[in-house]
Amino acid sequence: MMSQQILKSLFSRRTIGGGSRRFGVIWNAFILFALLFVLILTLPHSGHAQTSEDPVEIGRILYGENCAVCHGLDGQGRVGAQLAKDWPSLRPDRAIASIIANGISGSAMPAWSQSKGGPLRDDQIEAIVAYILTWESGGPRILPPTPTPVPRPPLTPPPDIQGDPNRGATLYDQNCAVCHGANLEGRVGATLAKNWPSIRPDQSIRNVIANGIQGSAMPAWSKAKGGPLSEREIDDLVAFILTQAKPAEAFRPTPAPAFQPSWLSGWGGALLTIVLFLSLIHI
Ligand code: HEC
Ligand code: HEC
Repeated sequence: MMSQQILKSLFSRRTIGGGSRRFGVIWNAFILFALLFVLILTLPHSGHAQTSEDPVEIGRILYGENCAVCHGLDGQGRVGAQLAKDWPSLRPDRAIASIIANGISGSAMPAWSQSKGGPLRDDQIEAIVAYILTWESGGPRILPPTPTPVPRPPLTPPPDIQGDPNRGATLYDQNCAVCHGANLEGRVGATLAKNWPSIRPDQSIRNVIANGIQGSAMPAWSKAKGGPLSEREIDDLVAFILTQAKPAEAFRPTPAPAFQPSWLSGWGGALLTIVLFLSLIHI
């Protein structure tokens, strides 16, 4: 009780006049900023795709980011099926939404809904459906944007590798980033920025890219398997992926996090919390 009164009078603009009045104003401004800051932090982060309100426009951007790699910018099909067509179902919107949400098991078509572990929200899937349905008589009137390449410094090819990692980087941005992430960190697909265990990692990576992984979302990319990439392009991709490999994690015990005493921990932090709380009630 006593301490509450002291704190109140310390920070109140009403109790002691003169100098502390200005302090009170500053204090209130500070709290206002703190509240704004928390508000900004808690606001849902919307990607640049959400700047428009029109579902068809949102769907166009999302399609370009996630689907064009397999279904083609114009929906004519590539690694994936043709989507620019007339849909036979009575409720094509429901049929398409369900396929997108759940994927097609046993094929390269992954599940995209968050409830199935995918990256897209239900409203984003609906937006893509709206966009795809605008193609029912012919292809898209406005093409989706092509993926933006990630700026990277020039890469030196790893030793004994024939492919060109710089060409590979561009191919990666166009074909693989959608599933493996812009920085190979993994998304719908596995992380590729890792330490490759095999003795000839170039051959095992090449094999996976060319032939895909049966029963997973990883399609076969080689022309020999019906994919869009030439042997040389696959070599370039292998070279690029190897330049992004993470060095082997040598075994070393994790050092215990150093304890950094700061005035915020312990009593200082507790006091600050109390002060913030009291001033919230106060204003
Ligand atoms: C890795 C490649 C790949 C990606 C990426 C991909 N798909 Fe597919 N998709 C396929 C394949 C392959 C099929 C055909 C599967 C089958 O029928 O065996 C397919 C089938 C479909 C079908 C059913 C087509 C039909 O005629 O019934 C729809 C709809 C579809 N995809 C929508 C999408 C949408 C929307 C996205 C983006 C959110 C997407 N796909 C991303 C590979 C992909
Ligand atoms: C539609 C999503 C999708 C696309 C597009 C895609 N991949 Fe994959 N990829 C996967 C998935 C999923 C796996 C993991 C499959 C598994 O292990 O079950 C995978 C696995 C891999 C692996 C093996 C990873 C490991 O740890 O062994 C390599 C290498 C690879 N992908 C390279 C590529 C390259 C290169 C491209 C572009 C040409 C590409 N992928 C495009 C989904 C995708």
